[in-house]
Amino acid sequence: MYLSRLASLLRKNNAVNCLYNNIKGTSTTSRVSPNQASQLFSSTVRSAASVCAYRNAAGHGFRTLPEGFCMRCVRNMCTGASIAGQPKGGVEAISKCGATRSENGRGSLPPFSDEDWLHEFEKYKQSPEYKRINKGMTLEDFKFIYWMEYAHRMWGRALGIMFALPFSYFLRRGFITLQLGLRLSALFALGAGQGLIGWWMVKSGLEEPASEYAEPRVSPYRLAAHLTSAFVIYCGLLWTALSVVMPEPPAESVVWVNGATKVKRLALPVSLLVGITAVSGAFVAGNDAGRAYNTFPKMGDSWIPDDIFSMRPLMRNFFENTATVQLDHRILATATLASVGSLWWATRKLEIHPAVRSLIGSVAGMTVLQVTLGISTLLSYVPVSLGTAHQAGALTLLTLMILLNHTVRKPSLSYLKSLPSVARTT
Ligand code: HEM
Repeated sequence: MYLSRLASLLRKNNAVNCLYNNIKGTSTTSRVSPNQASQLFSSTVRSAASVCAYRNAAGHGFRTLPEGFCMRCVRNMCTGASIAGQPKGGVEAISKCGATRSENGRGSLPPFSDEDWLHEFEKYKQSPEYKRINKGMTLEDFKFIYWMEYAHRMWGRALGIMFALPFSYFLRRGFITLQLGLRLSALFALGAGQGLIGWWMVKSGLEEPASEYAEPRVSPYRLAAHLTSAFVIYCGLLWTALSVVMPEPPAESVVWVNGATKVKRLALPVSLLVGITAVSGAFVAGNDAGRAYNTFPKMGDSWIPDDIFSMRPLMRNFFENTATVQLDHRILATATLASVGSLWWATRKLEIHPAVRSLIGSVAGMTVLQVTLGISTLLSYVPVSLGTAHQAGALTLLTLMILLNHTVRKPSLSYLKSLPSVARTT
């Protein structure tokens, strides 16, 4: 209904009507001077694009449009909360405070009285984490790591509520289509699953390590699963939010659409490589592999350490051997840098939309920064500040890759038909 009202409003405008008819093939150009025609052409292209984008928004996202409001809400619902949730997990992982999560009989309430705190601290003293890493810590230090872990857990739950409340409201009001609803429900289920993976990960850190000299720490596999799932949820939310606000990619001309198709062919494998490098980074963090071989570019005195295949079966080395895990991450990071550089080089002369060009530049700049952050983290024995910045850098790089892939999507056929062959420059 809203669409037809908009279309009739557009038709009331004589100029737009004239070009609307042109597009439909019923020419009325005789009434328009060449100068007017060129102005009207650009205005119609813009109108056609917005009608088309509008129709797509209605088709894929919201049924009716309190336009800015609803779209902003879903976008915020999707991205804001999950960005804020990410690096905190990293800080927490680095600070190793998982074992403070013991059952306290008060449900999710923190200790209130001094007595409760002492009781909680006594329980923590029984954990392998206290005995082997934090022995002798004061009650004040314990409170600090307790609040870090507690805040992370509560934040995770708050995210669920922040997502579920507006989602059910918009669903009840009929703003969300079936397709968008299914997508958002799947993302919500993944979010709930993330809470379970987090619990499963922390549980592994409470177990007594096999050797009495080993430090207790969470399983690298579970940490990698937790981080990978966080990245997947984040990318899914971002893609969904972008699809709601930007149903059609910025195109403006057929030449730019062709350029975008070429970029897309290169951007997809590069994004995959960025994702694999990020997952390999989770294994570096999970194995504490950043605290060994703190030299670059060589690993100690050699390029390739001798013991990279010392574990049996061989496969274990790629996930549990400090040297192999770090070497893999270095190789993958170098390959990522080279592939992003190649993407920039291969596309520098292509005729593409300025937004696509600036995204490629941003991806290249961010990759250089991320590699620099990684090397600095390694050389300075993984301080919390640099480790967190490096994790946030990976998320920023993934964000830019998602933006790039979303921007070079193929436009719908109707939108494509409305485009001039070459973009108009004003
Ligand atoms: C495009 C390049 C890179 C990406 C996408 C990337 C991504 C990541 C990610 C996602 C983590 C896990 C962070 C966490 O969970 O705390 C990580 C950890 C790590 N990365 Fe990278 N990284 C890159 C380059 C590098 C380079 C070049 C180095 C150094 C040679 C490096 C060294 C490290 C170290 C030492 C850690 C462990 C930090 C910790 O223990 O918390 N990274 N990386």
